Amino acid sequence: KNNLGQSKPLKGKKALVSAGPTHEAIDPVRFIGNHSSGKMGFAIAEKLNALGADVTLVSGPTSLATPIGVNRIDITSAKQLLDVCIDEFPNSDITVMSAAVADYTPEEVATQKIKKKEDHFSIALKKTTDILATLGQLKKDDQLLVGFALETNNEIENAKDKLKRKNLDFIVLNSMQDKGAGFAHDTNKVTVIDQTGEIIHFDLKSKDAVATDLCDIIASQIQSK
Ligand code: CTP
Ligand code: CA
Repeated sequence: KNNLGQSKPLKGKKALVSAGPTHEAIDPVRFIGNHSSGKMGFAIAEKLNALGADVTLVSGPTSLATPIGVNRIDITSAKQLLDVCIDEFPNSDITVMSAAVADYTPEEVATQKIKKKEDHFSIALKKTTDILATLGQLKKDDQLLVGFALETNNEIENAKDKLKRKNLDFIVLNSMQDKGAGFAHDTNKVTVIDQTGEIIHFDLKSKDAVATDLCDIIASQIQSK
């Protein structure tokens, strides 16, 4: 049945969207983070809701307001995000992993504020679990899984590799080449690569407009699931 002509093509579908950075604690007052604003993921959550989906937004620390009608779960660390995603994923028809998840986290969190001593100081880090790859392994045929890729070189090749390795339906490549795209900007320039190898280049546009483009692809792909 084709719902694409309807105003709410995702009615009856459940969606899980992750957004924002993670913060990995070093001690009670410090963390390792990144510059993700969460805007892209929040815009996607809002758009999926507008298309009729029942949306759960899992957000790292951001200053953004929850889109009306969207359920929000706040997390801080990559581990907390993993736990929420594992819980929510089995009930989710559409999952979009737009969070900027830390790749490494401190091996130990100091219980007291670390005092300055030597001139040089290093912190031992360990790899976090790849949440998207974990969900890719759990994915059933009727579930749609979307990931992002941030690359500075060999962009298409690296994104294709992530698409395959993480068992995604499509991957959204963030172009870092363009000024005005990516972290801390209101605009973004993306390239979508799907499982058939089709590559769609989009122009630089507002993150809301990018969200509309991505949700159109989601609505079309979910029909053939
Ligand atoms: N991702 C994830 N869990 C992680 C790291 C990344 O779920 N521990 C997800 C991101 O949310 C994104 C996708 O994986 O949707 C790709 O993230 P990216 O940082 O581009 O790729 P990595 O696989 O982490 O590889 P690298 O940073 O080395 O390029
Ligand atoms: Ca990474």
